Amino acid sequence: MIFALSPDKISSVRSKISENLFQKPRGTRDILPADQKYWRFFQAMGEKILDGLGFSRIDTPLFEDKRIFERGIGASTDIVEKEIYLLESVADDEDPQFALRPEGTAGVARAYIENGMSSWPQPVRLYYFGPMYRRERPQRGRYREHRQVGVEIIGDASAKSDYLVIMAGYEILKNIGLVDLTVSLNSIGCSDCRPKYLKKLKNYYANYLDKVCEDCRRRYDKNPLRLLDCKNDLCIKIKAKAPQILDKLCDKCRDHFQETLEYLDDFGIKFNLDPTLVRGLDYYTRTVFEIFLNSDKERKIALCGGGRYDDLISTLGGAKTPAVGWGMGADRVVEELKSSDFKPPKSRGVEVVILELGATARKVCKQIFNAFEKADINVFYIPAKDSLRGQLKMASKLNADYAIIVGQKEALSGSVIVRDLRSGTQEDLSIKKAVETIKTKYDSDNRNCSNFS
Ligand code: HAM
Repeated sequence: MIFALSPDKISSVRSKISENLFQKPRGTRDILPADQKYWRFFQAMGEKILDGLGFSRIDTPLFEDKRIFERGIGASTDIVEKEIYLLESVADDEDPQFALRPEGTAGVARAYIENGMSSWPQPVRLYYFGPMYRRERPQRGRYREHRQVGVEIIGDASAKSDYLVIMAGYEILKNIGLVDLTVSLNSIGCSDCRPKYLKKLKNYYANYLDKVCEDCRRRYDKNPLRLLDCKNDLCIKIKAKAPQILDKLCDKCRDHFQETLEYLDDFGIKFNLDPTLVRGLDYYTRTVFEIFLNSDKERKIALCGGGRYDDLISTLGGAKTPAVGWGMGADRVVEELKSSDFKPPKSRGVEVVILELGATARKVCKQIFNAFEKADINVFYIPAKDSLRGQLKMASKLNADYAIIVGQKEALSGSVIVRDLRSGTQEDLSIKKAVETIKTKYDSDNRNCSNFS
């Protein structure tokens, strides 16, 4: 039957729907069960590689004193000026104003100082995984709530650490199957050489102030390095002829950058130098980089971005401490995985379901449950009153591999019926033998999903 609704009726139905249905905030996403396997795989691979490279996990709050972001990221950056979510304090005037974290580095730097990590063996290698909040204009790959894996090496000024973090990001992406990568790199100097470069940059732009976009006119006064980041067509033409910072680095910064590139070369990491790469956070010194898929020809969606930040810890009140790190956009990485032909390992889910028939059986089911659980087999058991047919239906809805059927006869003889739910075959075995048989089958199927269970 076909229903034809008049335009009036449609608009009244629509407004009823919007009145009654809550929607997620713009720029946020629900990650539904079907997608969780990609996320789990990515996180498990990330953790495995980072653990193996000597990084330890840290979790910091989702909100911090907003001054940490103002001082750390920079008050005149887009993130702090336009994108930060401030929390309204409820009646407690003692509290500073809090903001949802737009990124992870400033919070980790605060935690390094507050927890006295400078007295730990240096450098301290940390990683985190969690959501970040930026009030950006939502579009593909750009969300108001996004998730990052991030790493930070704090307490080492040498190019070895620049290399190690870049290599770690590259390895994670390669190991999940995103192999066709390029690292874009630049050095933006230090507090010695950068001011001299900025003077030259401003001299150059002074001739074009009537031509560049409004944002660039603001950047010229407030944050001239960001002139190099403008995506406006005319501004792109103007910046193509701007003086390049790589030509103006001091000797120490030049040597440091050269050494970083040599390490990358030795490890076979493909990179290209991008003299306009400056990044959107003010804490960077020396090396800055982003990692892209080569299929992203316009370099629009960085999967990973980071750099060195030798002044951040002292800006936040700690001793001068060199550091370097990156953040990797998990939402972007998962989207790439989903659109590739990669098949993530299936999560284990329910493997075995115990089906009981009658009161005598119930007495031994808990013991059977314990035996499977001890053997690290995912086992599901709910004392049931349904018929065998009903319970088998439930087992197949749970997508289990095996049903362990226990009736009165089995309960009295210490055995069970093991039914393979995929093939429909079944056999009588002792409880011990049933556990061993299923365990051996899983092991020989290489069910090595411990990371994803
Ligand atoms: P970031 O470049 O702002 O750096 O973010 C890191 C990565 O997070 C980006 O390369 C991108 O993949 C992802 N990302 C950023 N914003 C969004 C968004 N709105 N939606 C989806 N993905 C996004 C930082 O956050 C620095 N804390 C990285 C760092 C760590 N530098 C040193 N240590």
